[in-house]
Amino acid sequence: MTAIANLTGIAKRMGVARPIKRWIQANVETGFHSLSPDLLVAVVRALEEQTDFEGRAYYEFGVFRGYSLWFAEQISRGRTPKDFQFHGFDSFQGLPETRVDARFFGRGDLTAGYNRVRDNLTRFGADWSRIQLHKGFYSDPFFSELSSRVTFDPVSIAVIDVVVYESCVPVLNFLGPRLVPGSILVFDDFNDMGRSDLHGERRAFKEYTERTGLETEQIFELGFECVAFRVKTPPRLASPA
Ligand SMILES: C[S@@+](CC[C@H](N)C(=O)[O-])C[C@H]1O[C@@H](n2cnc3c(N)ncnc32)[C@H](O)[C@@H]1O
Repeated sequence: MTAIANLTGIAKRMGVARPIKRWIQANVETGFHSLSPDLLVAVVRALEEQTDFEGRAYYEFGVFRGYSLWFAEQISRGRTPKDFQFHGFDSFQGLPETRVDARFFGRGDLTAGYNRVRDNLTRFGADWSRIQLHKGFYSDPFFSELSSRVTFDPVSIAVIDVVVYESCVPVLNFLGPRLVPGSILVFDDFNDMGRSDLHGERRAFKEYTERTGLETEQIFELGFECVAFRVKTPPRLASPA
């Protein structure tokens, strides 16, 4: 689904003429909506499955235009404490270069700028006392610098919608020390790219669980790509990140 939704990226790789690419950007890739309707259902399901919100937080990696983050904050009102935090992480410059998934995606695909996302959230009534946007390309140094300035509570729910393998690896490294029994991980693109263990979020998660001993149980699968897990045993980590 994400691969299909990436129309500009596909057009770019097919060598489609610039006017057609512009037309796609202007007419198809606009508006305030999620790239993945299944993800919205997954967010509702995760909120129904989760009972632990106190002292924990919601994380979303891969904000794009902000719709899924906005949606989560809206529908969780009344279910979560008033000061419950929603952290949204994105480059706001699209995907990075990928070697592993280069057949499907490329640098700059799926871009939505920071100001546009802020405007979208503000326009549709997001509660900024509950939302924090973090701008930058994911990497271990990026997350470590951020962690020195921002308090990140243990994970209640984390939505990982980062598409490519290289993006998912540092995200899991960052989440690891914040995973507790009961944390829910929703991977929007888990079965993208042919359900291959050699690609994308699926490969990164497989390698991470093998490396750290993280134990999870699958709690649901939705549509073509989306899979959610509940943490049973947190990862074994040498030292906190
Ligand atoms: C599929 S879109 C997210 C869609 C969004 N959750 C929705 O439902 O509409 C993927 C997003 O992940 C971001 N992203 C992917 N890899 C990244 C990385 N390494 N660093 C920062 N942002 C990244 C892209 O900028 C893009 O906005």
